[in-house]
Amino acid sequence: MAQPKVVLGVSGGIAAYKACELLRRLTESGHDVRVVPTESALHFVGAATWSALSGHPVSTEVWESVHEVPHVRIGQAADLVVVAPATADMLAKAAHGLADDLLTNTLLTARCPVVFAPAMHTEMWEHPATQENVATLRRRGAVVIEPAVGRLTGVDTGKGRLPEAAEIFEVCRNILNRHGRTAGAAAPDLVGRHVVVSAGGTREPLDPVRYLGNRSSGKQGYALARVAAARGARVTLVEANTGIPDPAGVDVVHVGTAVQLREAVLKAAADADAVVMAAAVADFRPAVYAQGKIKKTDDGGAPTIELVRNPDILAEISADRALPGQVVVGFAAETDDVLAHGREKLRRKGCDLLVVNEVGERKTFGSEENEAVVLAADGADTPVPYGPKEVLAEIVWDLVAPRLRSVPANDSEKSVTRPDFTAPAE
Ligand code: CTP
Repeated sequence: MAQPKVVLGVSGGIAAYKACELLRRLTESGHDVRVVPTESALHFVGAATWSALSGHPVSTEVWESVHEVPHVRIGQAADLVVVAPATADMLAKAAHGLADDLLTNTLLTARCPVVFAPAMHTEMWEHPATQENVATLRRRGAVVIEPAVGRLTGVDTGKGRLPEAAEIFEVCRNILNRHGRTAGAAAPDLVGRHVVVSAGGTREPLDPVRYLGNRSSGKQGYALARVAAARGARVTLVEANTGIPDPAGVDVVHVGTAVQLREAVLKAAADADAVVMAAAVADFRPAVYAQGKIKKTDDGGAPTIELVRNPDILAEISADRALPGQVVVGFAAETDDVLAHGREKLRRKGCDLLVVNEVGERKTFGSEENEAVVLAADGADTPVPYGPKEVLAEIVWDLVAPRLRSVPANDSEKSVTRPDFTAPAE
């Protein structure tokens, strides 16, 4: 198979040095990468570095090798263009279709997916001009990754950091996989949508040192969040106890318990087009939280722990949709009679789709791979053979996308407010 052709655009920000790591990851994983820096980018990292790391000549302007028509050919030939870092100036140029150097020409001629990974000071990122440019680019189908929060140049901290190279690489890889799979129809199909994904496993504290937990790693939920971001969605990931770094371009809310997870999911779901509950939510929690560590007693006895029911978040959001036409997806891990239990659970929970996994050796918990059947409320079953969690994530979004209401949530009526949940008395 031909090597996927990637154009790495680098604009003039201090984070340009991090693009070297992105370049290395792209080339080492079999991509043919052309680096197209701007003139200002070369103040931070020189042409020799880009050329040596990519194995291609590097130019910033359109007047070199004119006979090869580089201002058109590079963009036309690309399978993916990723601009990292994308400065405020570069986003403005791209949004307005300016073409005064090789990179901006390339952006105008590219017909493949385009990813921008912005990096700048918080004030520049938050400026209405930048925000409008970002909105314009997203509306046209570009994937603009949300900047990370953290240390910026000098003493400043805030939103505006370039996400880690590994994270930008994941976004690119997902987009290229999808592009390959859908042969041409790669326009991100979740642009303008807000989706909520829960991931991980809740922990229900017993005392200051102990909790009731489960073995969910959160990897499937993260794959769902990453893939949705790559398909252009605004993603809120509500994560419980995974320890996985925040994915690029995703708003992450960290929670611990089922009650916290419910609160965060309901809040985010208020204006969401789709909610995917991949988290393993504890069905029960200790009735009493011991303020001090529960100690052994001398009589050799063991304490009895009384449990109370946790809210069933999936059933609740399915029964009481924050917006008409919101698509709700659940997950179920079953050990036997998988399909029968899955169908019964789909009916009981009232969601639109239920991804049913069989729990067993190598499968599901902690593994990079998964095998499942996606059951739909309208009767269709989609078997997903054993494979990477990203592939299952793509299939879930493939099934969600046609079920989404025609008007994205953000363009229509405002969200509703829900009453506070009171845990059922046991
Ligand atoms: N879930 C939820 N709230 C809970 C428990 C589960 O929202 N309190 C969601 C999970 O995120 C998952 C789905 O429900 O999407 C399936 O969870 P599971 O625990 O398998 O279902 P149960 O209703 O607990 O069924 P059972 O106890 O019969 O296995």
